[in-house]
Amino acid sequence: MIDIHCHILHGIDDGADSMAESVAMARIAYEDGVRDIIATPHFNSLWRNEAGLVRRKTAELQRKLDQAGIAVTIHPGNEVRLENKATFMRDTEQGAYCYLDDAGRFVLLEQRWAEYDPDTPELVAWLLARGTTPIVPHPERHHFFRERPELVERIVAAGAWLQVSADSLTGRSGDDVQRFADWLVDRDLAHTLATDAHNVNRKPNLSEGFRRVRERAGQERADQIARRMAGILQRPSAAD
Ligand SMILES: [Fe+2]
Repeated sequence: MIDIHCHILHGIDDGADSMAESVAMARIAYEDGVRDIIATPHFNSLWRNEAGLVRRKTAELQRKLDQAGIAVTIHPGNEVRLENKATFMRDTEQGAYCYLDDAGRFVLLEQRWAEYDPDTPELVAWLLARGTTPIVPHPERHHFFRERPELVERIVAAGAWLQVSADSLTGRSGDDVQRFADWLVDRDLAHTLATDAHNVNRKPNLSEGFRRVRERAGQERADQIARRMAGILQRPSAAD
């Protein structure tokens, strides 16, 4: 399995506190069946973890995992917050943040917590025209999406994918969040799953998310999601 959203790099946002905690998180993920983790430190107005720093920290953690014999590959990424249209477009054009993959085909594009950004469908179209599919993390945790599900349907219709968090599906983020996460699964809007793990307590638990999807939507749906996620890290072939 691949975890596409994880705050495993230490000391640069509200994720892991220390290298020891990063290694412990990787071990938990490995035991849960994960073999690839895309490290997605925050890229927003509070924590602006730019691409160069993320790549250095990713390589540093990989060396530690190799020394410790933990067979997990860490890939550089970011959880990019849409603070506003102009800033996001400028940061994209300047290559300020890391995509989820080397080829830049996917970006984790988060909403602000206060309110929905009405420029989102326009930016989804703009990104798609550049060859990038935005993946919107944890819509179920945003009150405006729970209150107005049509906003979610609108950005999916524009071409975005959604990422539902394992903690939401297990009920760890509350009943309202779980209800909306289930709603997304039931409508086949949970395009991807991830842990959004931050430490060894809010820990990697991807298999729990997949279990809930299997219970509600069946094995074939879970397999379809897993295949879609595996495709994120596959380089497009020359024939594409
Ligand atoms: Fe996150």
